[in-house]
Amino acid sequence: MTKSKASAPAKVILFGEHFVVHGNPAILASINRRVVVNARTISENRVAIRSDIGFAGHYSGSIFRMIEGGMEAKTILDPLHSAITRILSSRSKKTGIEIDISSSVPLGIGLGSSAAACVATVAAVTSLFQKKLNRQEICMMAIESERLIHKDSSGADCYVSTFGGLIHYRKDKFKKVQAKGPLALIIASTGIRHFTGDLVASVSKFKDSNETLFESMAKQAANICVQAQGAIQSGRHDRVGELMNENQALLRQLGISHYKTDDLIDICCKAGALGAKITGAGGGGAVIALAATKEDSEKIASRVKAVGYDSYEVKIDREGLAA
Ligand code: PMV
Repeated sequence: MTKSKASAPAKVILFGEHFVVHGNPAILASINRRVVVNARTISENRVAIRSDIGFAGHYSGSIFRMIEGGMEAKTILDPLHSAITRILSSRSKKTGIEIDISSSVPLGIGLGSSAAACVATVAAVTSLFQKKLNRQEICMMAIESERLIHKDSSGADCYVSTFGGLIHYRKDKFKKVQAKGPLALIIASTGIRHFTGDLVASVSKFKDSNETLFESMAKQAANICVQAQGAIQSGRHDRVGELMNENQALLRQLGISHYKTDDLIDICCKAGALGAKITGAGGGGAVIALAATKEDSEKIASRVKAVGYDSYEVKIDREGLAA
């Protein structure tokens, strides 16, 4: 039996979600919450996947047997299974594989849990065999698998999870962004899970019925990204916060906001945040807020918790994929 282990971080989108699917830029950061995958070869000819967030099952060929997680288990595990079978067939391996996933990334709230799981799975399973893949190859395989969950994925989540840090991303190309001074970030969650594919489809519908308007909104979103990158690099955090609020106004106009995220944004801003917006697909999910100082971020997270939502401070992860 051969064993291996890999982990990949969750992410936040600071600027540009949804528009990034249509070729716009986005600014993302990987954060200090990880999905860890332990992989091993097994003698039985099957792929077994178990996750500590309540999903488990095994595949004999393409036949799936659910162990835990009900109807949703197959949807969640299929992309990982597909990545594993592609790795096995590209190496002409007949062995069975078992993976154990442990995750500190809540599912379906915009923190990129499925991308991190795909990246870590591809890295752990390829490490079982002789020829390892480089980060770019791992990222591309993870994107292909993620596209089974939502076919129009921009690929941004897999890139930031693989390469780590703060990045500017556009159409399969990324650049690292150097922030001047630490960004004091807080996540506040509605706890409402979303389905990214449905929200991406609703934005495409909006685009098709409002072509000129969408074009002008996409221009504004791109301009916000340019300004945000400059403000992050020069440490003008007040300006970063203002731009987050401007970005949120565009997301609200796209129709992917939710009364609970609006509530959270309001609570964060009243508690002293420099700015706050949805992170990820929206439709519930989570909000990302920026504070001026560490003390302020503690205060904002406790205020959010006091009114009954989940909230925590997060740090930018510099490492990305660890394999
Ligand atoms: O909510 P998440 O973590 O699935 O993020 C989705 C981000 C989108 O821009 C809405 C989609 C994408 O593929 O980039």
